Amino acid sequence: MSQALQKIIAGRRAAEFVQNGMVVGIGSGSTIAHVIEALGERVAQEQLNIVGVATSEKTRRNAAQLGIPMYNVDDIDKIDLTIDGADQIADDFSAIKGGGAALLWEKIVAFNSRQNIWVVDETKRVTKLNQYLPVEVIPYGANQLFKRFQADGFHPTWRLDQNGNPVRTDSANFLIDLHLPMIDNPRDLGDELIKMVGVVEHGLFTDVVNRVIIGTDSQTAKVIDVK
Ligand code: A5P
Repeated sequence: MSQALQKIIAGRRAAEFVQNGMVVGIGSGSTIAHVIEALGERVAQEQLNIVGVATSEKTRRNAAQLGIPMYNVDDIDKIDLTIDGADQIADDFSAIKGGGAALLWEKIVAFNSRQNIWVVDETKRVTKLNQYLPVEVIPYGANQLFKRFQADGFHPTWRLDQNGNPVRTDSANFLIDLHLPMIDNPRDLGDELIKMVGVVEHGLFTDVVNRVIIGTDSQTAKVIDVK
C-alpha cells in the first residue's frame, strides 16, 4: 500500500476522536488534510459542533472552507484536543516537526492543548530521530546564527522557496535546517538551541504527545496510547 493511502487511513481514524463541543487544534501537512476533510464531513453530516484553532494560515483557510469555525489561539480558553502530523517519531515518542514550515504555531497550539494526537504513515517511525531538523529564526542576524550553527557542526542549510529566496513562516521568520546524523538526546539539543539568541523555536517536540495513530498496510490504523 502506498504512503498516500496510509495517510488517509491515519487521518480519518484520528478525526473519530473529535467529540461534539470540542475546541480542536488542527495541524498542518498532507496527512492533516485528510483530518480536515473528515471533520468537514462530520460537521456537514452529523452537525458536529466544534471550533478549530489552526497551526498555519493554510490550515485555517482549508478548515474554514469546509465549514469549521476557526478561532485564533488567543480567542479561546483551552484547546481540548490537537491533531497534527510529524516528520519523524522516535521510539521514545520525541518527534521532529516543521517540514512544512509550521513548527512555531504547531508548538504553541500543542502546548495549549489538553491532549495531542499525532497522525503519521509508517515511514515516519524511527528508532532515533535522524533527519534534518528545522529551526525558526529571526531574520535580523540570521546570517550570524547560521555561521554559529556551522561552527557548532550542525551542518545548516537555508530553507529556500523555488525562486531561491528564504522561506518565510507565518510569523515572517526564516527557517534554517540542521543536518545531524542522529539525535541521541532531543531534550538536550532542544535546550541548547532554544537558548541561542535569534532562535525563535526548533522542531524537536518532546513530552508532548498522548496518542499516535499510524496508517498501516492492513487498511486499519494502529493506535498507540503514549500517556
Ligand atoms: C508542518 O510544519 C509539519 O510539522 C507537518 O506536520 C509534518 O511535516 C507532516 O507533514 P505530512 O503529513 O505532509 O508528512
